[in-house]
Amino acid sequence: MNSDEMYEKMKAKLSRIVPDVELRYKAEIAVEINELKKQRNAVILGHNYMEPALFHSIPDFTGDSLDLSRKAAQTDKDVIVFCGVRFMAETAKILNPTKTVLLPAAKAGCSLAESISAADVRALKARFPGVPVVTYVNTYADVKAESDICCTSSNAAAVVDSLHAETVIFLPDEYLAKNVARETGKHIIFPSLNPAFAGEGGELDYQLIGWRGRCEVHEKFTLKDIQTVRAQFPEVVILAHPECSPEVTAAADFSGSTNAMIRYVQQSKAPHYLLLTECAMGDNVAAANPEKDMLRLCMVRCPHMNMITMEDTRDALKFNRYVIDVPEEIRVKAFQAVERMIKIG
Ligand code: 13P
Ligand code: SF4
Repeated sequence: MNSDEMYEKMKAKLSRIVPDVELRYKAEIAVEINELKKQRNAVILGHNYMEPALFHSIPDFTGDSLDLSRKAAQTDKDVIVFCGVRFMAETAKILNPTKTVLLPAAKAGCSLAESISAADVRALKARFPGVPVVTYVNTYADVKAESDICCTSSNAAAVVDSLHAETVIFLPDEYLAKNVARETGKHIIFPSLNPAFAGEGGELDYQLIGWRGRCEVHEKFTLKDIQTVRAQFPEVVILAHPECSPEVTAAADFSGSTNAMIRYVQQSKAPHYLLLTECAMGDNVAAANPEKDMLRLCMVRCPHMNMITMEDTRDALKFNRYVIDVPEEIRVKAFQAVERMIKIG
């Protein structure tokens, strides 16, 4: 496909969302990327939060974390370029270690992944011996390696239920844990690792043990935001990612992973939607559903996802950067936790 054809393809989807001048510029970069992709026998995976021009041009597969980890595990290409953040690229390497995994922006992290270390998990295991550990995939490989099983936002409650355990350690997202507790009817505590506070929180009847990590994007949405938007758009249908607080998910009409939110909008008929998640996904959903009015609160953005640009994706393929490696002894342990999750679905 030449750049005129690429421009037409992007315009068909994005003419109401992205100014023409930007589409022409990015169509040229997309053609360069596709050429490099062929030369390097690469696959490009694009998370639902990628900016609309990138999202609608270069990825071979788009999706949520669970979906993309499956695609990473299955690919027979030599190179996986992950247009997402570091923990996602690490998960790809964990699942498919013989491939070269590239992350276009070296510093694309995640506030949840930064919130907990492997030493923290070991301390929790020492404090609650024998209690199985579930970790959200938004963690680094060494944290996954200390876990029994991983989960994503699309299967968190199913993963907890699959353990048939009286008590589960669920890390590191405070709000996802509270949302899972609400969904599964479990009582949650957030223990301090300081021995002086052991016993805080009434530790008699808890079933989930949480951690105080938060997504710096989703924690910012409030009940007041929902009330204000409902007052302005009485017919609005509100969708909230489960990394939002339980007050927000309870007041929303639907809560689910990024893929689940996309499906919900596709399948329902309401005229107005508010997506409480990264703003770029609102653009992508609006492009795919031109007859529906998509509201989004764009004062809140993920600085990490927004580091991934088309220019950096091109340069990742051109200069083979930034290569993601996971030490083998950590990878093998983390693989077990991620694979157990993937089998549950
Ligand atoms: P999903 O797994 O729902 O795509 O979420 C990933 C993420 O980072 C949300 O902030
Ligand atoms: Fe992490 Fe939140 Fe950004 Fe998702 S949106 S990558 S959870 S900081």
